[in-house]
Amino acid sequence: MKLDKLKKKAAWAALDYICPGTVIGIGTGSTVFYFIQALKTVKHLISGAVSSSHASTLLLQKSGIKVLNLKKFHSLEVYVDSADEINRQMQMIKGGGAALTREKIIAAMSKKFICIIDESKKVNILGNFPLPIEIIPISLSYISKEILKIGGQPKLRKNVITDNGNIIIDVYNLYIKDPISIEKKINSLPGVVSVGLFASRVADVLLIGTKNGIDVIKN
Ligand code: A5P
Repeated sequence: MKLDKLKKKAAWAALDYICPGTVIGIGTGSTVFYFIQALKTVKHLISGAVSSSHASTLLLQKSGIKVLNLKKFHSLEVYVDSADEINRQMQMIKGGGAALTREKIIAAMSKKFICIIDESKKVNILGNFPLPIEIIPISLSYISKEILKIGGQPKLRKNVITDNGNIIIDVYNLYIKDPISIEKKINSLPGVVSVGLFASRVADVLLIGTKNGIDVIKN
């Protein structure tokens, strides 16, 4: 079965986790695209959405879903987003779509993070997918040198400026055995805005689209 079909299955299953009358947090990417399509069918149930990217904001608006300003909120009931990789501890690599910083903010303020994936995203060890880091442009050389020291190969993502006006480096060949300490280490480098390693704040519910239906894993 094509991965898109599995993404779509997981996205529609997330409708069960919506809290009626509340504002929902929305991630970014191709799986979330299907979730926004699903959400459109029940938009009368929610008060609106806060979005993690300009791209998702446009999709939400096109679907007639009210997009509210993130800065007006300090907590949310539910956040729905996908991941580039997820391990058994529900720790994730995110940021393939360059929206990691806002995704991290919304994940931190949400009571429940519902992660929707196709089955190809499940891994034993994080790091096969290059780890994205959003950085302030002038810190590129310094951070690249520091990443080499921890064993990764940093590569500037070409022609990408984030919604926050920064750049992204993707770190290749980093075998992430201890995600929490790597997250802390990278976060502590001056110039780093955020790292796409969601190791401390993990997903609460994982919905996996498989050939045979939906697998649900709760934390
Ligand atoms: C966006 O920045 C990412 O964190 C996405 O959530 C992640 O890359 C998954 O994207 P897809 O649903 O497109 O695979």
